[in-house]
Amino acid sequence: MKTLADIAAVRDNLLARFETFEDKREILKAQELKDLLASIKDVAPEDRRAYGQAVNTLSQELKAKVAAELDKEVELPPIDVTAPMDVNAAIPSLLHSENGSIHPLMQEIAKLSDIFQRMGFVVEESREIDDQYHMFESLNFPKGHPARDDYDTFMTEEKDAAGDPFIAPAHTSTMQNRILKKYKADLENGEAIAAVVPDRTFRNEDLDARHEHTFYQVEGIYVAKGVHAGMLIATLQKFLEEYYGKKLDVRVNPFYFPFTEPSFEFALSCPFCGGTNSDCKVCSGEGWVELLGCGMIHPNVLKAADIDPNEYTGFAFGCGIDRLVMMKHNIEDVRHFESAKLDFLRQF
Ligand code: DAH
Repeated sequence: MKTLADIAAVRDNLLARFETFEDKREILKAQELKDLLASIKDVAPEDRRAYGQAVNTLSQELKAKVAAELDKEVELPPIDVTAPMDVNAAIPSLLHSENGSIHPLMQEIAKLSDIFQRMGFVVEESREIDDQYHMFESLNFPKGHPARDDYDTFMTEEKDAAGDPFIAPAHTSTMQNRILKKYKADLENGEAIAAVVPDRTFRNEDLDARHEHTFYQVEGIYVAKGVHAGMLIATLQKFLEEYYGKKLDVRVNPFYFPFTEPSFEFALSCPFCGGTNSDCKVCSGEGWVELLGCGMIHPNVLKAADIDPNEYTGFAFGCGIDRLVMMKHNIEDVRHFESAKLDFLRQF
């Protein structure tokens, strides 16, 4: 039968071992303590009360010690959150407490998407990795077509099942075939296919103030019965006037794209000087700014989506968004957009 002296011995023993426990909570599971608790019922009835209290006091004492130790552990050293991102800056002024802001290109994509939605177009996303079929074949550039070289396309070393490399889309036209297939049923219901795709594109460019390897385009596609080039020109003119908030003249010149026939290069009257300033940075005094490519969708592009070109016709266009935004905000160098320069970004 155990006595108060046994409790004192267990206490001494456990306190001596306390430091050796890595996780201090382990001491509360010590076998000696369990044995003491189990032994209470075996103590003579007249001694049981004092014995039980002593075991309980020891248990409380150990719990308090463990709790004090755990409290100590959560006191971690403070982390310095004031370190500037640019460790070379003389004055750490880069990380202000103010919130971030939406990138100017994203702000403008939201605005132009809104204009097209009000004109009845749905907005779709492109992809950041795609295949040869959507970049070229479905757009009437068969294998070996010389116009493929115009697109300075980044390709992966990895090959797909057909042995072709994957591509980083060099234009948003990669989405034409998918959109035609996705909304084909609308044509059968007597509705038009009307979609825009504002998204990121990539080309292996030599970089300068007007060329960036990563840039944005907005693709447009409209298919129904009886669509003609007049509708294309009116749609683009209306969009640009709405975007720049003023009346603009447009000019359409013949051009070549494999996926449209006829194809056009579309220019608008300079929104800054209208041709009145020979030093104008935007149009160099010419009065016209070439902005986008467009045309009537080639029958082979419709056929690739199982749409009968004898029954339906359509137009498509592809417009550089960076250019559009540079002209709107008088930004002189396209490289600002991808630069992550906070001084530039904070102005918007
Ligand atoms: N994808 C062309 C480019 O990046 C632009 C373009 C031209 C898109 C004509 C079109 C189009 O949809 O019809 O150069």
